[in-house]
Amino acid sequence: EIMKEVSGLKVLEAGIEEKLGISKVVVVPGDSDQSPWVKKEMGRACVNTMRKRFHDENIIAVAGGTTISSVAEMMKPDTKNRELLFVPARGGLGEKVQNQANTICATMAEKAMGNYRLLHIPDSLSHESYQSMIEEPSIKEVIGLIKNSSMVIHGIGDAKTMAQRRKTAPENMQKIEQAHAVAEAFGYYFNEAGEVVHKVQTVGMQLADLEKIECVIAVAGGASKAKAIRAYLKKAPHTILITDEGAAKELIRE
Ligand code: G3H
Repeated sequence: EIMKEVSGLKVLEAGIEEKLGISKVVVVPGDSDQSPWVKKEMGRACVNTMRKRFHDENIIAVAGGTTISSVAEMMKPDTKNRELLFVPARGGLGEKVQNQANTICATMAEKAMGNYRLLHIPDSLSHESYQSMIEEPSIKEVIGLIKNSSMVIHGIGDAKTMAQRRKTAPENMQKIEQAHAVAEAFGYYFNEAGEVVHKVQTVGMQLADLEKIECVIAVAGGASKAKAIRAYLKKAPHTILITDEGAAKELIRE
């Protein structure tokens, strides 16, 4: 019975890889929209995927959200004692502290018995403050580490859900709605074609930087996120996707 279930998931994985044109998909059983523990299973699968891809020295950039928080919860020390330095992928995006990249990055590093560096900058910055902040030596150093990261771990969200959760200003809310944004990842909002329609201004990793990073892992599940996952991956084909059966069944259907 268990083998039957596993082979069913393998079929789903192969089907999604082909359909979305991405090289690696991992599907865990269940639907995280219905069962919160499924997020932990995605977290566990992500940790396993990470460990298979670690080098002797690693800089791991970590984004925010409840899913990546579950990855942090499931993190374990590396059995091979490799060097792990965790950094937040980007500065604050308007999230509660438990969903912020800084918090998750520190937790993940502690569970991995690795090291971490944080970005101490306010969530929303004016253009002038942004320009002077990125010149601060301590910030510059962390930004340098982020840009040189060997691995990125991020979530994908439904655009509207994310904009509301972050208490986005009404004019930006309107912009996001009028542009028919369906997906969100590390502060960028995307339409159904995977094009950026809005971004939160903050320091750290920018979308274009992702292309140069060797290993990019997106962790997102729940049937309600299928549309967002599909849209985001249109422009990010070298991403490894960790998802659940709920999202996978929707992704394979259309
Ligand atoms: O940045 C947040 C992610 O895009 C989605 O967040 O994992 O809480 O759904 P979540």
